[in-house]
Amino acid sequence: MEDLESLKTQIINNINLASDIKALEEIRVSVMGKKGILTEQMKGLGALPLEQKIATGKKLNVLKAEFEQALNARKEVLETAELNKKLATETIDITLPIRPETQGRIHPVSKIYEEVVAIFGQMGFEVAEGPDIEDQFHNFNALNMPPNHPARQMQDTFYLPHSATEEFDMDKSYVIRTHTSGMQIRTMENKKPPIRIIAPGRTYRSDYDATHTPMFHQVEGLVIDKTTTMAHLKGCLYDFVKAFFELDEIPVRYRPSYFPFTEPSAELDIGCLKTKTELKVGAGNDWLEILGCGMVHPNVLKAGGIDPDEYQGFAFGVGLDRLAMLKYGIPDLRTFFESDVRWLKNYGFSPLDFSSMTGGLSNNGGQTR
Ligand code: PHE
Repeated sequence: MEDLESLKTQIINNINLASDIKALEEIRVSVMGKKGILTEQMKGLGALPLEQKIATGKKLNVLKAEFEQALNARKEVLETAELNKKLATETIDITLPIRPETQGRIHPVSKIYEEVVAIFGQMGFEVAEGPDIEDQFHNFNALNMPPNHPARQMQDTFYLPHSATEEFDMDKSYVIRTHTSGMQIRTMENKKPPIRIIAPGRTYRSDYDATHTPMFHQVEGLVIDKTTTMAHLKGCLYDFVKAFFELDEIPVRYRPSYFPFTEPSAELDIGCLKTKTELKVGAGNDWLEILGCGMVHPNVLKAGGIDPDEYQGFAFGVGLDRLAMLKYGIPDLRTFFESDVRWLKNYGFSPLDFSSMTGGLSNNGGQTR
């Protein structure tokens, strides 16, 4: 029995000193394995007289339970220590930014959109948005273009059937808007003057070459007040082109033009230098048309529910994609909508450079292009 006591102390001691799981397992096998000390003792029970057999058997069973308990306790301690060690060496700093940081790019059209909103926003314009699918009243009729008006042919319109079952009827059908000018009417319907809004958005015409795509982007501008004049239009757009091209001076000219919804109408040209390989805005003897504009036609004010004897105003429409091509030297419009990541990597902008009039508009001095 004394042997058993000292055996117990020794084994428990060994268990508690085991330095890792493997050493612990070796101890377990040496005690309770097939040829373990305890197993051997149990095997020896058979040779003992009955009473002794019972007494020793009990003791051995108690001993076995004690060993198991000690083994489990030690195992838990060792496993926790091992886990802590692992956690300490394998930590991940989740506060680190992702690499590479500037993988994503902002599309040039989105960039130009931001820039235009920043410029007009600072002048006090609000941004208005409207539907791409437009009825003919807003896209044409209310803009002084009744059915059969020859100006409707100026735009290659996509018509949508107004009903899936009835026969196609050109006059009743919807269109996908050919310009953002319908937003002039929608704004007048919802707002009382004074009005000062821009309406950026997608527009659609059946056209496809290096400078035309079936879907493109425009920004409409509309200002209506009691004393708004053509001089305001000129000043406003001059300030816009200077801010947009980030130049202190830029030659501009207003060329008489025709739009059914403005009278008088004009197109704005900016001075530039055109060579076979280069197009430089703000210098040289060439002119480049960049937008259409004019004083809102009295019929348009009437259609929008505004009294033309009391109010007057100006409107303009600019092609956003065109501006992007000019400002960032992108030669082919079709590439804008091909979703080629290599193109986007080359012409796109860092999402971290947000356009603002105070923080810098194009911001492309940094690592943006
Ligand atoms: N809607 C015209 C176009 O698409 C542009 C324009 C807008 C002209 C507003 C005058 C006034 O070409």
